[in-house]
This record gives sequence, structure tokens and C-alpha cells, in this order.
Amino acid sequence: PKEKNWYGTHLYFYQGFWCASRVFRAMICFQKHFQALDSDIFLTSIPKSGTTWLKALTFSIVNRNQFAREENPLLSSNPHQLVPVFEYDLYLNNPCPDLENSCPYQPRMFSTHLPYAFLPPSIKDSNSKIVYICRNPMDMFISLWFFTDKLRPDNVEPLSLDEAFEKFCQGMHDFGPFFDHVLGYWKASQENPNRILFLQYEDLKENINFHIKKLGKFLGFPFSEVEEEQGVVEEIARMCSFGNLKELDVNKNGMHTFGIAHNTLFRKAEVGNWCNYLTPSMVEYFKKLIQDKLDKSEVVFARTL
Ligand code: A3P
Repeated sequence: PKEKNWYGTHLYFYQGFWCASRVFRAMICFQKHFQALDSDIFLTSIPKSGTTWLKALTFSIVNRNQFAREENPLLSSNPHQLVPVFEYDLYLNNPCPDLENSCPYQPRMFSTHLPYAFLPPSIKDSNSKIVYICRNPMDMFISLWFFTDKLRPDNVEPLSLDEAFEKFCQGMHDFGPFFDHVLGYWKASQENPNRILFLQYEDLKENINFHIKKLGKFLGFPFSEVEEEQGVVEEIARMCSFGNLKELDVNKNGMHTFGIAHNTLFRKAEVGNWCNYLTPSMVEYFKKLIQDKLDKSEVVFARTL
């Protein structure tokens, strides 16, 4: 089946998920050709769940001893330029991209929005690390609605909130359905906790220092007592904070490869921003959907409702 995307292109339903056609081709090349290394780190998410933040944090944690504070590459590059996306930056126009030059830092770090089921066996069978971040679907939905409007060419009519809501609830959005995406990674993280870390945006917002330390430990780059005393964790939190990244020249004025302005990646960064946009009946429907879909898992978004 084929459906109109939120910004004028098409979505195809493939093995339970909705994918844009060009991503579909890139995904096949990625699945076929990519060879994972045990030292690789993969950052995974459904769009608008905090990917940019996770990339900045992971990059800073892993490379904290590679450069002086004032030479942090985050000062001159957007986090997405430091951690390329398989299906956009690497395999979109090239079946065998030059991975070494795409990742100038070691260990290699990549990202993807593909569901867990679509990851190549090479990744699943390796000893690499996977970090997944997700977010309350109501905030993610509002974030996606604003973002896709920025991707919309002038000749495509804007999608109303009602229409977007309808599509979201049916799972029709890039890499949707949302709940299947979240649950795929959730189950994998339960089966393989040493390899797959499942994070929630709201938890990072609540206690970022704790999660920086957790990420460091999980990835094999734990913080020493001396580092903690020196305030290294707090400095990473500050560098990667929304307020700091948003104001950097590269993020205010830079452009990503597909003509996406870096500043479109930074909007409000609030927990509960949905309450300014969703109608009471939408909220009611959402709550029921969340309850139905997550009923048998331990994933809880309730704190943010
Ligand atoms: P809002 O649209 O709600 O503001 P992604 O990076 O996956 O595309 O997610 C984008 C969302 O994360 C946007 O949410 C954006 O504002 C927020 N965001 C971007 N950088 C952030 C940061 N450093 N810290 C917290 N949130 C951030």
C-alpha cells in the first residue's frame, strides 16, 4: 500500500512499517552491505524523539579526551554531521559509501530511524552497542507536525493538525507506527540489556547528569571519580543542552545535506508542549491508545500525561 506523506512525498507500507520510497532503497543497500564492528555505536530513534540531543551527548562522552574543551567539534558542527544517518547520509545515493571517511572519530558512531526488525544481521550479531531514545508520543507528534511543515515544498498544501492526528493514530508517518517502533527496541533491550540501552527523553530531562554517567558506563567509557570531581559530567550536560546548542552559529545558520536548516532541529524542547495544541478529545484518544498499545510492556509515558 502507498499513502501520501505529511510533506508531499509517498510512504510505502513494508513488513509492518511505513517508509518513504527513497529510504526504502537505501535500507536495502544498508542491510545488504553494511559490516558492523564490535566497537561500533548505533544511535536509534523514531524521528523527533531527541536524536540530536542523544548524538551530541554520545559524541561528547565517547570523545571527551580527544580534544580540548574549546575545540569540541560540536562548536563547529551540527550533531548530525558528527553522527551520520545510514538511510539519509550514507546509503541514500551510494550502495557502498566510504564509511571510514564519514566517521573521522573512533569508535565509529552511526544512527538510524529504522525499526529494530529492519537492522542488518551484521549489527544484531555483533557485539556493538545500540542506544535507543523515545519520547512521549504526544510531544513527539507535535514536534513531527511542526518539523514536517518545514520540509513541505511550497506547492504542497499544509497538513492540518486534525489530518496529521488521524494519520499518526493510524501509524502513517515516517518509520511508524510509533508504538511498534518503540516496542521493537524495548523488547530487544530486555533480551539483550548489555548491548541495547533504552532511554526516554523525559528521563534525560529530569536528570541529565545521571544519564550521562549511565551512557558512559554502558558504552564502555565510564567516568572516573576524578572526572566527576572536576565537573566533566556537568560540562558535557551544559555543552549538549538545548540552550547552548541552539545558540551556536553552526546551528543557527548552517544547512544540513537535504536543504534542512539546522535551526529546524531546535524548537521548544519541552516536556508536555502538546498541551498547547491538542484538543481534549485528541488527548483522550491518545491516552487510550497509549494504554492499549503499551499495556503488556513496562514502557510508561504516564508521568508526562
Ligand atoms: P520539540 O519540537 O518538541 O521542541 P530529534 O532530534 O529527534 O529530531 O528531536 C527533535 C526534538 O528534540 C525537538 O523537540 C527539539 O527541540 C528537541 N531538541 C533538540 N536538541 C535538543 C537538546 N540539546 N536537548 C533537548 N531537546 C532537544
